[in-house]
Amino acid sequence: MRFKDKVVVITGGNSGIGKAAAIQFAKEGAKVMIADLSEKMGDDLVEEIEKSGGEASFIRVNVTDFDDVERMFEQTLLRMGSVDVIVNSAGVLGPRMRTDKYPMEAFDKVIDVNVKGLWYCMQVALKHFMEKKSGNIVNIASVAGHVGMSGHIAYCVQNTL
Ligand SMILES: NC(=O)c1ccc[n+]([C@@H]2O[C@H](COP(=O)([O-])OP(=O)(O)OC[C@H]3O[C@@H](n4cnc5c(N)ncnc54)[C@H](O)[C@@H]3O)[C@@H](O)[C@H]2O)c1
Repeated sequence: MRFKDKVVVITGGNSGIGKAAAIQFAKEGAKVMIADLSEKMGDDLVEEIEKSGGEASFIRVNVTDFDDVERMFEQTLLRMGSVDVIVNSAGVLGPRMRTDKYPMEAFDKVIDVNVKGLWYCMQVALKHFMEKKSGNIVNIASVAGHVGMSGHIAYCVQNTL
């Protein structure tokens, strides 16, 4: 129970790495706030965690919206009393296409979610953590920041930032 009574917010907590982290943090005694786009998937995961004896809640958030990120944080404080850790796992890969054909909207979306979204979450969390003089931020990055991935221009660019 390494995280007994600690409050952990996980963006992108509905799926993949975020979901695995949510389940594991709950097993270690944390109160987990799953923050993601799909309410249905989030509610299902909360149920799964609660059935295993863990504590979790879901909040819908779009990390590309700064006000939404602030609301996620405020709601977590209200519902769970604290925030000790934020895991930033919300992310999108984007399409796999040649750079000369890569659609601008797809490029913007990858940057909005993976760069700006992460930045918003860090900034809001940091304000709170600086005030209380404690807190942990876990950002999920990719090997794509070190080696190229053919056809994934936006994803590789954001991982080098
Ligand atoms: N899967 C891998 O092999 C791998 C490897 C290295 C790094 N990563 C990184 O880890 C992170 C998670 O990857 P994953 O494979 O678990 O992905 P995933 O697609 O399984 O999960 C990502 C989650 O983020 C959520 N999300 C997307 N846009 C969002 C938004 N605007 N607001 C809130 N939530 C949003 C999705 O709904 C989804 O639940 C990503 O940042 C990814 O780049 C993944």
